[in-house]
Amino acid sequence: MKKYTDYFSRKIAQGNSFFDRDEQRRALIVELSSSGSVWLSGERRVGKTSVAVQVCRELSLNAEQYGFTTLAWSKCDISSCATMEAAKRKILQAVADVASDIAGRDQKAVEGIRQFFARFDPEFAIGGKDIAKLTLKLRTSHSMDNPLRDALTALDALARDKGSQAVLIIDEFQTLSEIKADEGEKIEWEIRSALQDSSRVAMVFAGSKKRMMSDAFVNKNRALYGQCRRVKIGNLPESDCTRQLKKVATECGFEYDEGALERISEISKGHPRDFSHLSLQTFELAVFQAKKPKHITEHTVNAAWEAYIRDMVFDEVNALLKEKLNNNKRAEVATLQAIAHTRVAKIRSSWYSMK
Ligand SMILES: Nc1ncnc2c1ncn2[C@@H]1O[C@H](COP(=O)(O)OP(=O)(O)O)[C@@H](O)[C@H]1O
Ligand SMILES: [Mg+2]
Repeated sequence: MKKYTDYFSRKIAQGNSFFDRDEQRRALIVELSSSGSVWLSGERRVGKTSVAVQVCRELSLNAEQYGFTTLAWSKCDISSCATMEAAKRKILQAVADVASDIAGRDQKAVEGIRQFFARFDPEFAIGGKDIAKLTLKLRTSHSMDNPLRDALTALDALARDKGSQAVLIIDEFQTLSEIKADEGEKIEWEIRSALQDSSRVAMVFAGSKKRMMSDAFVNKNRALYGQCRRVKIGNLPESDCTRQLKKVATECGFEYDEGALERISEISKGHPRDFSHLSLQTFELAVFQAKKPKHITEHTVNAAWEAYIRDMVFDEVNALLKEKLNNNKRAEVATLQAIAHTRVAKIRSSWYSMK
């Protein structure tokens, strides 16, 4: 018998817990397998990261079907980066991960990326699968004008050489504008100039800050304008949610009153986070209810919703606090940097002024 916890997830949805999104998956597959890049738009917790990861997994499992020897991908979430340097480092590390993956056991390729990444002060270690794993300590020296562009261009050359395809997911992409708008735009120009000429590197930009994200892609003066196909992620159709619930109930040995499972789809309105959390809570309550265990009634669903709402308010407040904290950290760093760059005109001390 299968477990209901395999089908609903509080983390990103993958494998059994992922369903639907045929249209968006098709768009992503078409773009990424032809080195096109994508801008994934949608509210918080609507399923952007899940669909991006799901598609990359599918593509890498069936790389040959798309004409590649391998497809390597990596996801980096830059939302916790307080400085531009940290964000750059995180993206470059993702580039290095994909490069290591593509190089695999090919000593010549490994040597090639070792040479390229030598400027970033890398460390090589042999990973579990006998694959060279490159970790960057990364000190971008000031002599490097466009480290990100150069790294992406090098990745493209490596991928072409090996007949592979590289995909990079940059999650919470608007963080670049949040840290510092003008420096963020400089990075976007670097990415643009690499993407324009690349034939084996594709990128997915995801982010939930609507205004900042659309400005980065729709504003004609911005670097990534016209460079990416937009794929919108919205709620899941309620009827598909109900179908999924019925499938899970049957496979996991649950019974249900007529209309009870429909109630889950109806209350959650097909919002992926609400749907998956409410489903988890409902199935859990049903397992432990005294009267008729593993039988879902409307009452079970309503009780689960009440419990979920209580948890969710807590989680959301926590998430928002964390976001605010990151913003504060950024402001703090900016102030310290400003102080560090201020030249002292006159030295004064209380002792001096008393004289
Ligand atoms: N296609 C899907 N099928 C089932 N559950 C999903 C799907 N997409 C997202 N979810 C669920 O929704 C929640 C939010 O997904 P996530 O990918 O983190 O959203 P985002 O990246 O937009 O914030 C997670 O709990 C995840 O399990
Ligand atoms: Mg996400």
